[in-house]
Amino acid sequence: MSPLLTPRRVVIGANAHADLATALRAARPDLELRGSKFTDVTLDDLIWGDTYLGFKRPLVPTMGNIRWVHSTGAGVDAWFSPHPLPRDIVLTRSSESFGPMIAEWALARALAISQQLLDLALCQQERRWEPRDIAMLRGTKAVVVGTGDVGAHVGRLFAALGCHVLGVSRSGTGDPAVFASVVPVSELSRVVVDAHWLLLMLPLTSATRGLISRNVLAECRGAVLFNAGRGAVVDEAAIPDALAMGWLSGAALDVFETEPLPDASPLWTNPRVIVSPHISGLTTIDGAVAGFVECLTAFERGESPRWIVDRDQQY
Ligand code: GLV
Repeated sequence: MSPLLTPRRVVIGANAHADLATALRAARPDLELRGSKFTDVTLDDLIWGDTYLGFKRPLVPTMGNIRWVHSTGAGVDAWFSPHPLPRDIVLTRSSESFGPMIAEWALARALAISQQLLDLALCQQERRWEPRDIAMLRGTKAVVVGTGDVGAHVGRLFAALGCHVLGVSRSGTGDPAVFASVVPVSELSRVVVDAHWLLLMLPLTSATRGLISRNVLAECRGAVLFNAGRGAVVDEAAIPDALAMGWLSGAALDVFETEPLPDASPLWTNPRVIVSPHISGLTTIDGAVAGFVECLTAFERGESPRWIVDRDQQY
């Protein structure tokens, strides 16, 4: 792939386009910018620009003269489905600012569950004094599916609390300073058997859609399932059954097949499910601009930024 050397005109398609433009102008006053919500980006904008900065795809049929798309979100599934971005347009993303936030999202839920915070809060409301045993995270097994930047941040926090952290990834590789071991996806069903925490930190691609199937869930023996990737990585309809059967003892879900989560979903009312509205890893203005500028600088030096999306792997 030949890097684009001289991006000049950047179309920003985001709700926070004005803030992004202010921060980008401060970092790179030489660039020309146009901004609007992604739903309001026009074909004229995309013909005017050479670069697009945003999370969601504009609602126009072609990308005009855009040669480079930088996703302000970590997940780039929207650029592959329902149809892929043409391969001659460079696609980058930066997930650096998401890992620490998603790791805290996961840890907060793991501690809330191990410390029984939700039940204790109910007891307090009703003035019930109910001593109980409290489990520790120390010594438990955390299986992190997806050992990239986000998964590594999550693994690091769980390891810091004394968990045994095992990674699962397509390549079977991951940072050895974080993961006690990393196994390939083909071993998923084996390693979930004694997992206490099953943490999904992977992108949605054609290879990961439905990866956590009913069969995989049926191998679990009481794990708590976390999903901060994309809803469609899991067979969502199987989660209530998995909880009822004891395959899972709980679930902390930030992403769903359909968002917002429909009123009729049984996940809303299941007392063992903690729902959050896709807020585990929010894009910050500074993080988005830093990632973009890092890629831009690399292009200008004629180098490939480390954040180029592999079009075959789709992340
Ligand atoms: C959010 O879901 C993201 O992909 O950044």
